[in-house]
Amino acid sequence: MRKIIVIPGDGIGTEITSAAVDVLKSLDKKFSLELEFETHDAGGTAYDKFGTPLPDSTLDACKTADAVLFGAVGGTKWDNVEAKLRPEKAILGLRKGLGLYANLRPVKVLDALVDNSPLKPNLVGGVDLVIVRELVGGIYFGERCESEINDGVERAWDLENYSVPEVERITKLAFETARLRRSKLTSVDKANVLATSRLWRRTVNALADRFSDVELNHLYVDNCAMQLAVNPKQFDVIVTGNLFGDILSDEAAVIGGSIGLMPSASIGELTSLYEPIHGSAPDIAGKNIANPMGTILSAAMLLRYSLHEEDAARTIEAAVEKTLADGFRTADICSEGTTKLGTVEITKEIINRL
Ligand code: IPM
Ligand code: MN
Repeated sequence: MRKIIVIPGDGIGTEITSAAVDVLKSLDKKFSLELEFETHDAGGTAYDKFGTPLPDSTLDACKTADAVLFGAVGGTKWDNVEAKLRPEKAILGLRKGLGLYANLRPVKVLDALVDNSPLKPNLVGGVDLVIVRELVGGIYFGERCESEINDGVERAWDLENYSVPEVERITKLAFETARLRRSKLTSVDKANVLATSRLWRRTVNALADRFSDVELNHLYVDNCAMQLAVNPKQFDVIVTGNLFGDILSDEAAVIGGSIGLMPSASIGELTSLYEPIHGSAPDIAGKNIANPMGTILSAAMLLRYSLHEEDAARTIEAAVEKTLADGFRTADICSEGTTKLGTVEITKEIINRL
């Protein structure tokens, strides 16, 4: 059996992971996947139960898993919890604890959703890019100080740092990813200002010879943010650091019509973790209106990257595309002439099309 650890987390996490598990279960027989599921707590829910957002039992279970399927964590309920116990610490702790160094965030604009994009249809039709975000370094994990008082003035600080091996590891994976696609890699930094970015750029350039079949270019992050809005079709693979990747991937995601549709894979050495890129949306939790597609497509990435079940992965992706092409929508992407369904109901439509 292949063990999948399911971590629903908070807010809509329960609804969306249960939708994705239903999809996986209904494929199990056809592809002899032999999956077994084990659910664990993390996030605010875990904090309420155990006083910590990431219980050791959850992290340990993930270490022995074939893959982890993650929902979302966080919520206004825990806004006043001290920084080191906030729900977000669960996902950051999993990334660090499992060494999930590369976050792959694909953005593919489906024909059926071209009109849902905030950008003009002629700009977004055919967009197909992947952001490769470094996930266990940079300012997210540098030293920080919440409050320091000098001469009566309070300040806080966060340290950004990257080592050559950290940049090399993510860059190699990005070059390899580009090789399997359209062989174009854009490295994003802020080398006109930041020392870490200059080291980043030097390190990427030093590897370029080994991947001379891939076309490489560099963009400053501010320019990249603009290019994503004016000409997103120019991109194939984008590689960048943790913070820039966080910001650019939300921007890129919305180009596809809704952040609710976007999956991600966080690749590690021990195991890998799959999660939608959206948050826990506490305002709509429990109402059966959340879009489960980002999580269902994350389950497809799980099949592809962790279990090497390419056919099963494609089957899920095709079923999601067909459901959308047939006019079924959740509230976030619903427009005139389409049929609005709840989380459970649209999952059934997807399952019917597998
Ligand atoms: C994401 C999220 C997380 C991040 C938060 C929840 C810590 O925004 O996965 O993009 O900033 O990495
Ligand atoms: Mn984010």
